[in-house]
Amino acid sequence: MVKITVDGTEVLVNEKKNLIDALKDVGVSVPHFCYHPKLEVVGMCRLCMVEIGSAKVDPATKQIVKDQTGKPIVIFNPKMQAACNTPVTEGMYVNVNSEKAKAARAGVMEFQLINHPLDCPVCDKAGECALQDYSFSVGDSGSRFREHKRNHPVEKIGTNLRIVHNRCILCYRCVRFERDIVGRDDLELQERGNETVIGYTPLNASSGPLLDTNYQGALADLCPVGALLNENTLFQSRVWWYDAKQSICHGCSELCHVTTNVKDNELYRYMPPKNPEETNYFICDAGRFSVHEFSRNRLHAYLLKGHPGKSVDILPQVAENLLNASKVAIVGGSTLSNEEVDAIQLLVNEWRNSSKDVAWEFRTETPMWENRFAEKADFLMMVDRRPNSKKLLDSKAVSIGERKGWEEYLSQVDLIIVLNEFSAPYAFDATRGIENSELYKLFEQKDLWKKTILVSTHESAATKKALASLPVKAFPEMEATYTRHDGQIRKSIPVLKPVKGLKTASEVLASLSGKAELARR
Ligand code: SF4
Ligand code: SF4
Ligand code: FES
Repeated sequence: MVKITVDGTEVLVNEKKNLIDALKDVGVSVPHFCYHPKLEVVGMCRLCMVEIGSAKVDPATKQIVKDQTGKPIVIFNPKMQAACNTPVTEGMYVNVNSEKAKAARAGVMEFQLINHPLDCPVCDKAGECALQDYSFSVGDSGSRFREHKRNHPVEKIGTNLRIVHNRCILCYRCVRFERDIVGRDDLELQERGNETVIGYTPLNASSGPLLDTNYQGALADLCPVGALLNENTLFQSRVWWYDAKQSICHGCSELCHVTTNVKDNELYRYMPPKNPEETNYFICDAGRFSVHEFSRNRLHAYLLKGHPGKSVDILPQVAENLLNASKVAIVGGSTLSNEEVDAIQLLVNEWRNSSKDVAWEFRTETPMWENRFAEKADFLMMVDRRPNSKKLLDSKAVSIGERKGWEEYLSQVDLIIVLNEFSAPYAFDATRGIENSELYKLFEQKDLWKKTILVSTHESAATKKALASLPVKAFPEMEATYTRHDGQIRKSIPVLKPVKGLKTASEVLASLSGKAELARR
């Protein structure tokens, strides 16, 4: 740690940090656009201007010269300096809130706003836009610019991303993120001077005409203004209408921390978490854009052979099937929470003790015996898109690898219970469709539907075919924990209200088990 003086107050800061971060640690926030802790420092926007000085030293004695009151005489550099690319040094004097520093930043803001349209009322970024905030807190209310503003048409730049060039402040964050974090050098500054814009250049012949990475949403997050916008949620809501809570994404076993944005009991957005420095700065599109699925095509009725009925009629019939089955196969489970897996494990043990042969196999995106659940698909997302494979792997009730050719084995059992494997957005890439999944094809080929009970959050082609389909709560409707690929336990909180009477998967299975016990007596 080193001692520096900020606006006349001595503070201790980490000498390994640059000034902008060190000041943040002691509660002093310096306005900035281009600086981002995860990206290379470029010092492009010039908004983080501060005055930097040092104590006057007598060249003869090498001693610090003091005034009559005994305080060191400080000499500030004549030019303002950017806090983002200045390392902290022992004895440094920094003025963040002097009149000179404030005037410098107001001047930068005036330049930034020269070409910027007055778009806030129609801009999706309004309410979480750094330019809007700094314009109020740092800038001046007027502008002396009387020329024509630059005018470029809005452009679709990615499969899910548009760029409003007129709002871009050329902070270069998007280019650095693509290059340094995603590893694709396909965004760049094009044209010159006042006409400079951000443009997409396909890297090679195999690149499409639009940016198609798994991090287009992250680009829109990173953009400090409303220049890069995510088309998935475009014009759907104002950001201040959302109820925001801190939870996790369930899209893969990375279990990223996220901020959930809910309006009218519908999950609209996942955004990066509130304290990214303690968790993760970025989230991927696969997880981010799965949120709408939690409010679409939900299974809310009990189905018998595809027809809705009352739970009091359907559950006893399913319980009877379970009671009479001597060989039972359970398929899936790695989308369920730790608590549900533990509860189902107890049930499975009970069933086994009552001389049922119960095989419980779960599925991962890749064959489960390959153990690829801990492999990364890119810098963040996992190859295995099931969130809780690690928990299932560690569960003693799961017979992974015991039944070689378990897919054949499904033909031999009396009853199959499928846990969410046919429910979007869990078990497969939703763009492929349930009917195209390997598991669906297997059930079709071997005609397994007539002995299959689906425990399912969502309606699908499968729920219409199965012997019975039992609706259950989805992940954002429960308080639960999940086990990350590295063993870390992460907690999710309920952000949506489930429909009345909806149970968790373990509760539904327990109620079947209870009814089977009753039938036996
Ligand atoms: S598009 Fe956004 S992130 Fe990219 S340079 Fe412009 S303002 Fe910065
Ligand atoms: S990496 Fe996984 S957990 Fe993180 S946002 Fe993407 S899908 Fe969700
Ligand atoms: S944040 Fe320092 S120059 Fe942009």
